Amino acid sequence: MSSSTQRIGVVGYGHLGQFLVDRILRDGSGLGLSLAFVWNRNPDKLRGLVPEDLILTDLSSFSDRRCDVVVEVCHPQIIGEFGPHFLSQSHLLVGSPSALSDPDLNQKLRQAAQQSGNTLYVPSGALWGGQDIQRLNDSGGLKSLFIRMSKHPSCFRLTGDVLSEWTEGEGRRVLFKGSVAELCPLAPNNVNTMAAAAVAAGSLGFSGVQGEIVSDTELRDFHVVEVEVTGHGGFSVHTVRRNPAKLGAVTGSATYNSFWNSLLVCKGHGGRVYLC
Ligand SMILES: NC(=O)c1ccc[n+]([C@@H]2O[C@H](COP(=O)([O-])OP(=O)(O)OC[C@H]3O[C@@H](n4cnc5c(N)ncnc54)[C@H](O)[C@@H]3O)[C@@H](O)[C@H]2O)c1
Repeated sequence: MSSSTQRIGVVGYGHLGQFLVDRILRDGSGLGLSLAFVWNRNPDKLRGLVPEDLILTDLSSFSDRRCDVVVEVCHPQIIGEFGPHFLSQSHLLVGSPSALSDPDLNQKLRQAAQQSGNTLYVPSGALWGGQDIQRLNDSGGLKSLFIRMSKHPSCFRLTGDVLSEWTEGEGRRVLFKGSVAELCPLAPNNVNTMAAAAVAAGSLGFSGVQGEIVSDTELRDFHVVEVEVTGHGGFSVHTVRRNPAKLGAVTGSATYNSFWNSLLVCKGHGGRVYLC
């Protein structure tokens, strides 16, 4: 192993975690990546699939594995519990950026990044044009940002009873419209793209960026992500992204590759938040 090999710790072994672990084991050496550990709430799910010496059973001892990047792909709750600690030791790629909608945690993570010099990476996910939005924001030209995510009802994982009942063929239904800050606790697994947008549009923040989630039984093969950006002086951009997705899947298949590309960016960009 060369000294430039980056050691990656993967936290969570659901769909995205399995994809990343397989890809690192398969392609990592050619790209200068190796696995430092894999953690899952239930370690039994890892047995036989992940080499025994790479299984981490106690997440609080992650720093013993000396990794360069921790990749969180399980739940915003883990960012709340461990995020600042991860960042104090290594770069952090936060797969559940809806965690950043909590202003207190957001502040703690930024502080931990600043103090350690490690980077908090936020993957752009299914967001098209995230870097452009960030540039417009940084130049002071961003006025408003609106994101609509439309999916088949089986693809939503919502808290509360926003979508307790639905029938095949019912068509289109707006489930919620409001700020991304309000949407994050309601749909923590469905608003990662919106959370990335709120990070890109830092001047508007989670309470300033507006979002809408729409259930549509016609959308059996893809998710639709629409972004409307307005700037000063009549500037506007409207994008519509169709993200192929299996019925019932929270995450579109193009998003897996996008996440992998985000991981390849995590080489260290100083003690700040970086959209990748
Ligand atoms: N940013 C992005 O582009 C992007 C894309 C896809 C998924 N995600 C997010 O990444 C995370 C993983 O996605 P996935 O598709 O692999 O989901 P998944 O449901 O397949 O896997 C989640 C895993 O985390 C575990 N888990 C759930 N709640 C937990 C908790 N409170 N504490 C510890 N472990 C817990 C589950 O047991 C499961 O193993 C989710 O938060 C999802 O919203 C982000």
